[in-house]
Amino acid sequence: MNDPRFPVDFVWGVATSAYQIEGAAAEDGRAASVWDTFCRVPGVIVDGSSGDRACDHYHRWNEDLDLVAGLGVDAYRFSIAWPRVCPDAQGAVNERGLDFYERLVDAMLARGIAPYLTLNHWDLPQALQDAGGWGARDTVHRFVDYARHVQRRLGDRVGSITTHNEPWVVAVLGHQTGVFAPGLKSRALAMQVAHHLLLSHGLALQALRADGCRAELGLVLNLAPVHPASDSETDRARALLDDGLLARWYLDPCFHGRYPADALAALGADAPQVQAGDMAAIAQPLDFLGVNYYTRSVVEAGGTPFDARAAGHEVTAMGWEVYPEGLTELLLRLHRDYPVPLFVCENGAAYDDALHEGRVDDAERVHYLQRHVGAVADAVAQGAPVRGYFVWSLLDNFEWSSGYAKRFGIVHVDYASQRRTPKASADWYREFVARQKAGHAAG
Ligand code: FCB
Repeated sequence: MNDPRFPVDFVWGVATSAYQIEGAAAEDGRAASVWDTFCRVPGVIVDGSSGDRACDHYHRWNEDLDLVAGLGVDAYRFSIAWPRVCPDAQGAVNERGLDFYERLVDAMLARGIAPYLTLNHWDLPQALQDAGGWGARDTVHRFVDYARHVQRRLGDRVGSITTHNEPWVVAVLGHQTGVFAPGLKSRALAMQVAHHLLLSHGLALQALRADGCRAELGLVLNLAPVHPASDSETDRARALLDDGLLARWYLDPCFHGRYPADALAALGADAPQVQAGDMAAIAQPLDFLGVNYYTRSVVEAGGTPFDARAAGHEVTAMGWEVYPEGLTELLLRLHRDYPVPLFVCENGAAYDDALHEGRVDDAERVHYLQRHVGAVADAVAQGAPVRGYFVWSLLDNFEWSSGYAKRFGIVHVDYASQRRTPKASADWYREFVARQKAGHAAG
């Protein structure tokens, strides 16, 4: 297969998040986050595990950055653990938490790796949850304070800052279905949480810019084309509404300063309380929009979940359909409806990898990545302003409610010994990126 050819300044990277890799849950002044608490609830994590130790990245970060450098990529997307920086509800700063990230960022820069920083990859300090969490308006202001502390220490060295990773997940999986932290089950609360996440995003952008931040500022959403299971009018109406709640609910406020009318009407009494000025505050100009893409969504009016495997489609170990053309469709739709520079901030797949004589031959993951990179190239060729692509994930890690049972890494982690072994997909990615760079050097 011939490689697609990307623009010379296209950014290639790998991604992780704090709670999924760091461990060291009680070190150097870090307090508990909602995920530390949630993992203690019996039955919510399939293997009963937690991020207490995870990949022990807090102690092995130097070795892990060597792995990133060894891939020859341009950038590393990571997140800051909020409860390391602001452990309590009052927002006092724990400088030792910032020290860790300062060392990490400086070590990236020393290796020629551009840091792509995310402020909130779901680990709200438990102290703030105890004070009402994202359902409480005050949390919005605590997030802005936290963002300013991070920018004060790192803003001169970090070129890209994301406020929130996947606010839909925090709102809906955390507060409506309750399968993620903090495990609450109210749609009205979930929508209020979504509003507060968006508001805190907008206010943080305003505050960081007022503080003189030079980094590009953006938001990362989990997005997918929503397809009707059939051509029936009812299935098509359901797909449109689901798109309203998954995508337009987050995009329309950022780009147009309003919630989508169809979704608002469908929510009825569960619609959030919005105060005067909120929508204008959310609609701050974005320097970029991040897109996390794993699979499409297929819906039917009755709400029966679509079983891609039963329908005979190729699926990953998560049971998620492998549907690369959905990424092209999504990027072109964003290009049309929400014009702004785009990054694919996460894309990847879990497979049942086996370590054999020091090797992991994850041919399926290589194929998945190849096809999705190809899908990005198709979108770029049709004009979508995609600036970069990050593989999820550098390492096998704590996959939320799936615990350690699902492996997304291009580097295998043996959790008992903490030994890292690059998989065949890591070799593929390194060689692919090298060929891109050699192609440009050759002109
Ligand atoms: C995304 C999350 C990321 C990881 C992948 C598989 O929703 O942002 O942390 O768990 O899914």
